[in-house]
Amino acid sequence: MYRQILIKSLNKIKPLCAVRSLATTNAASVDKKLFTPGPLGVSMTTKQAMLRDLGSRDTAFIDTVKKIRSKLLDVAGVPAQVFTSVPVQGSGTYAVEAVFHTALPTTGKALLLVNGAYGKRMKKICELAGLAHQTEIFSENMKVAPSAVEEILQNDPSFTLVAVVHCETSSGIINPVSEIGCIVKNHIPDASYFVDAMSSFGAIPLDLQASKVDYLVSSANKCLEGVPGFSFVIARLDHLLQCKGNSTSLSLDLYDQYDNLEKTHQFRFTPPTHSMLAFQQALLELEQEGGVLERGKRYQKNCQIIREGMKKFGFREFLDSSHKGYIITSFCFPKDPKFVFEEFYHRLNEKGLVIYPGKVLDSDCFRIGNIGHLFPDDMTHLLQCIKEVCQEMEMSFPINN
Ligand SMILES: Cc1ncc(COP(=O)(O)O)c(C=O)c1O
Repeated sequence: MYRQILIKSLNKIKPLCAVRSLATTNAASVDKKLFTPGPLGVSMTTKQAMLRDLGSRDTAFIDTVKKIRSKLLDVAGVPAQVFTSVPVQGSGTYAVEAVFHTALPTTGKALLLVNGAYGKRMKKICELAGLAHQTEIFSENMKVAPSAVEEILQNDPSFTLVAVVHCETSSGIINPVSEIGCIVKNHIPDASYFVDAMSSFGAIPLDLQASKVDYLVSSANKCLEGVPGFSFVIARLDHLLQCKGNSTSLSLDLYDQYDNLEKTHQFRFTPPTHSMLAFQQALLELEQEGGVLERGKRYQKNCQIIREGMKKFGFREFLDSSHKGYIITSFCFPKDPKFVFEEFYHRLNEKGLVIYPGKVLDSDCFRIGNIGHLFPDDMTHLLQCIKEVCQEMEMSFPINN
């Protein structure tokens, strides 16, 4: 009631300002903290940047598209003469699928290096599209072994594309993408090397040229802290330019998307105007934070706090230290019979904190992400709440493992 009266009176004075400030107050007080692989929390200023309606042909929007495409190359640390960036409407999977449809002709064959759910998704994409592929499955708690890749390529150099996930967000493992890239180019120099860097781009530095990456995919709402709505591909121009006519999908034709963006600076189909506006602000905030290195440092600090705290509590990690990165951590379910994940999850949720179930096949785990608009204080608060929840569930504490 009071709120309605307040809105009415504020609307009379300064309509836009009033709605904005109420939206801000509400969002800040209602929203939970997301310790997940995504969707992730973003800053209020990034959300506020979306509070506009722009037409797709509006010069302000065209300008935004141009700036974003150019800034993405800066974040990737690659020159515009050699690489291009191509935004794709939809979540990250859309861009992954667009790369396969475009970079893998029906006469080609992909080698998929798989050690988790997102590698498996690549396999599913190739299966559904009828694209020739060979899948090499590695253990979910081990990095893809470069020596195994070398052996495969020595025995069969007929692959035209090799694909791997940088941070397998299903476990948190970091694959040695630079080493693998060098092996790929050593054995099959004409093949394309495709890295799914969905949850690592913008926080884990990667030298694309030294790592021989031809296609890299990520999305707006991961480490770059924009809102969901589009993904993007950083593509080597000499590879992409050979792909005209390859795609059997219209909407996922990356070459056509690129060609149209180059010619008109417009998307082929309805563009994600609001999330592009938010992304422009998110990129500015990345710059203000100090770029990829500083963002990475914040995530490393977040990660260190949660890992050290959970260790003190007695929780055991799924990965050993030589395999993990600093994006997300998988924790094994404690052996304590009082631990029931659903209850643990819901109790934390009631305290305004969202964690995530595990996504590995051979072990019962839950995951705690530390990317997005999260800071060391958030991690400390999460630890305090985890302790309270364990006590509320009458688990032995420290945890019995
Ligand atoms: C490594 C990786 N690849 C692909 C995806 C799929 O992205 P989306 O869920 O945005 O389609 C994700 C999602 O978290 C991911 O972490």
